Amino acid sequence: MYSESSSSKGISIKSPEEQQKMREAGRAAAQVLEMIAPQVVAGISTQTLDDICHRYITEELGCVPAPLNYRGFPKSICTSVNHVVCHGIPAAAKVLKRGDIINIDITVIKDGWHGDTSQTFYIGEPGVLARRLVETTREAMVTGIRMIRPGVRLGDLGQAIQRIAEQHRYSVVREYCGHGIGRVFHEEPQVLHYGKAGTGVELQAGMCFTVEPMLNAGRAEVKLLPDGWTVVTKDHSLSAQWEHTVLVTDSGYEVLTLRQDETV
Ligand code: MF3
Ligand code: CO
Ligand code: CO
Repeated sequence: MYSESSSSKGISIKSPEEQQKMREAGRAAAQVLEMIAPQVVAGISTQTLDDICHRYITEELGCVPAPLNYRGFPKSICTSVNHVVCHGIPAAAKVLKRGDIINIDITVIKDGWHGDTSQTFYIGEPGVLARRLVETTREAMVTGIRMIRPGVRLGDLGQAIQRIAEQHRYSVVREYCGHGIGRVFHEEPQVLHYGKAGTGVELQAGMCFTVEPMLNAGRAEVKLLPDGWTVVTKDHSLSAQWEHTVLVTDSGYEVLTLRQDETV
């Protein structure tokens, strides 16, 4: 028995068998965050976090860390601290300290299929400004995810996410977005975290994509550092992000990267 991949306007529709592979990949990615969470503390370097995740992904989960060598990215995870928006490169010299926030972004390849998820952690007790930004960013992601069902358009999600950010006087990063995901890390569609309701791709059961808003406490503009990867806020304001991989089902959605004790 076999099934052919199908697609709609270049967006792949996963068969039931393919959906099961995506579930397994998503679960593996979630397990990495569950494993690393207790170790995300003051005094640890982002390189050590990378080492621990690399070993767990390859040896315990039997997966491949998707970022490693992806378009030349040199490490297995992304670690984005404070004003780093995304794609921070783990480094031995980057030691976490109390009051920092850090996004850890995990993408694994399990049996050829990708699972992609990220979480922002506090180091020690967060300040009130950091807590409000991080919680609002998660609320924005969750609000987008809960809207997912066949017939809804991606612009509906984008507008809702943007509204939450702007109600709190935060800004949404425009240069990076969510993405379709499957055998390919980044595939169609692009999932913008801003936009206009009633526009964009209409969702269909069997689509898989990420929702991963990046919110800045200050202005939306970002810049790329000379290392070619690290993205920072131009005004050096704090930035937070959360990410899940989601499947569109007949009745709504399934979060493929949900952690134990997490609800969406
Ligand atoms: N995981 C990121 C995403 O959410 C992509 C990281 S690409 C890398 O799409 F090369 F920086 F790892
Ligand atoms: Co992603
Ligand atoms: Co990611």
